[in-house]
Amino acid sequence: MDRLLCFSRRLLPACAAFLLALPPAWGETLSSPGGDLELGFRLSPEGMPFYSLRYKGQAVVEESRLGFVLLPDVAFDRGFSVEEVRFAARDTVWEPVWGQWREIRDCHREMCVRLRQAESGRRLVVRFRLFDDGLGFRYEFPAQEGLRHFMLGEEVTEFRLPGDPVAFWLPGDYDTNEYPTTTSRLSEVAGLIEGVREEPLAVKSAPPGTVVQTPLMLEWPGRLYVNIHEAALLDYPAMQLDLGGRPSDLSAHLVPDKNGVRAYLQGGCVSPWRTVVVSDDARDILASTLILNLNEPCRWEDTSWIRPMKYVGVWWEYFTGQGSTWAYSDERDIRIGQTDYRQLPPNGRHGANTAHVKEYIDFAARHGFDAVLVEGWNEGWEDNRAYLKERIFSFTRPYPDFDVEELSRYAAGKGVELIMHHETMSSAADYERQLPEALRFMRRYGYDVVKTGYVGGVIPRSEYHDGQWMVNHYARVAEMAARHRVMVDSHEAVRPTGLCRTYPNWLAQESARGTEFESFQGIRPDHAAILPFTRLMGGPMDYTPGIFEGDLSQYGPNKGRRSSTLAKQLALYVTMYSPLQMAADLWQNYEKWPDPFQFIKDVAVDWDDTRILEAEPGDYVTIARKEKGRERWFIGGVTDEQGRTACIPLSFLPEGRAFVATIYADGPRAHWQDNPQDIAISTREVSRGDVLRLRLAPGGGVAVSILPAE
Ligand code: NOJ
Ligand code: CA
Repeated sequence: MDRLLCFSRRLLPACAAFLLALPPAWGETLSSPGGDLELGFRLSPEGMPFYSLRYKGQAVVEESRLGFVLLPDVAFDRGFSVEEVRFAARDTVWEPVWGQWREIRDCHREMCVRLRQAESGRRLVVRFRLFDDGLGFRYEFPAQEGLRHFMLGEEVTEFRLPGDPVAFWLPGDYDTNEYPTTTSRLSEVAGLIEGVREEPLAVKSAPPGTVVQTPLMLEWPGRLYVNIHEAALLDYPAMQLDLGGRPSDLSAHLVPDKNGVRAYLQGGCVSPWRTVVVSDDARDILASTLILNLNEPCRWEDTSWIRPMKYVGVWWEYFTGQGSTWAYSDERDIRIGQTDYRQLPPNGRHGANTAHVKEYIDFAARHGFDAVLVEGWNEGWEDNRAYLKERIFSFTRPYPDFDVEELSRYAAGKGVELIMHHETMSSAADYERQLPEALRFMRRYGYDVVKTGYVGGVIPRSEYHDGQWMVNHYARVAEMAARHRVMVDSHEAVRPTGLCRTYPNWLAQESARGTEFESFQGIRPDHAAILPFTRLMGGPMDYTPGIFEGDLSQYGPNKGRRSSTLAKQLALYVTMYSPLQMAADLWQNYEKWPDPFQFIKDVAVDWDDTRILEAEPGDYVTIARKEKGRERWFIGGVTDEQGRTACIPLSFLPEGRAFVATIYADGPRAHWQDNPQDIAISTREVSRGDVLRLRLAPGGGVAVSILPAE
């Protein structure tokens, strides 16, 4: 629950209002609490609103347009005059239910501009919040006669950037973000984008070839780091960015529906916040709390049932090519609710059978894991390539060889939870129809967590994964789940925007290229040094790390090698923040490598404090975190294809106490390509004055646990 611990420490004129009688061409500025950022707002003589942003005197966003085009073809970006401007300031501290920090400070200054179109009489509000780590602004559509129900044709918001920064980008796509990131100058994007789309996941309904996705990380080398994204995306489509004209002039490109409508809105609503996180030190981007601060406080009064956890699962065996299947039979002609599975011949390779799941439960209990995910437990997987069908799965009918009652009893007896799996194949309307019953089914058998999935490039009913209808769907699922005290981990949903503050039962999301790709095309070594600056800006990721067996070819043909060293797999538990962490490999591989496995068993999933020690987007990230409520620290460091030495001063440790550090480092001959299994584990006593200098191999990483010596 959000708790406000103190109010307005800073004395700024809390609310000064200037009423009416402002000239049509008019400007105002606002500075951040610490003074490094300055926001400018201006109305042109034609009544067009513009904003700009400066950081330590240098331009971050040059004068950029604000406003909308309403359907059919109504300009809502000009002809305005300023009706009223209000300033406010806030300095509070709140406590997330779980997170990277026990307390989060929300210190910002606000400028709220009320605009009115002289001709139409329509009103629009732009609310700016300036923090020391960046800017957030959103539009508010006051309830009014001329704007009761309306449709957005365009949002014209621009982010006009100076020069030609380096960008870490994904091609625009209305349905997926499971791409590798491309790093290039912004001016090079248009020339590269079609090549990047030649991925198997490329979509049918692509936005123009000048559109990229957010979170977009930008770097003016040696000078400035900027992240553009959004916060609190609810009842509105996701924002992508169009490089249209001059390549550094980005403008909002909202994901439409197939009628070409961007959003169906009603007076009294607000847009998500547009966010610009800024610093001259890349570490500050990762330490930013701006997106969380712009989200609404927790909606749930009682959050005692929400808890971070570590899990294993009947999962990787489906990807390693050993023949284990989600499906129970090889039969294709399935009719959900009508086919009697007991009459079907089993294929003999079904993964989620009772005896096999019990092995995972035993393993979880033996090693202190909280939960076991079971995929392939329910009827319908025979049809799982059935894109664009509406009734593929049942979420209440287990396969005949999955004894749901017996397994619930068995797991409870061992103190282990089971995680339910709902793959929808993007048949979201059908999923909503089944959800009330599915949640009751979960409650009946004691399931507290559901992993949802939206595989498939297209959605029946002409919707896109990142459009307004699906954005509402994901939130509805989180809300309905909360009513049944169920936590959610969504895969293939729209990328997060900090909503985990408001819905803390929405523990994690995938929404980017995760570990599963190690078994498809592979993952580039710089991926782990990019994602914290892009995808993770919006919220935790269920990345599913911990693949110990690096040579996947031993499982079957057409499988390559994991694209990191073994030590890097451990580091990901710290660098890829999530309150829900999987140990994703086959459990047999953990018993084969018990020494590195100790780190996964020890590492925490909820934190009092997080220190970003080293970071450069695309190159390396080193993070130290203190376990919630305990004096135990964990460090993770990752690098791209270049080896490096991480320099880690232990100055965060408390004075006068001895600790034992266990260092899981790349071995002397480790290399992500030629020698990925070489790991060197050592222990030593450490204290606050020490500095660890640790070598990371090319494509490597390092993990350290620091536990009290006694
Ligand atoms: C894709 C998900 O990311 C993966 O974790 C899951 O196993 C498959 N879909 C099947 O639902
Ligand atoms: Ca996926």
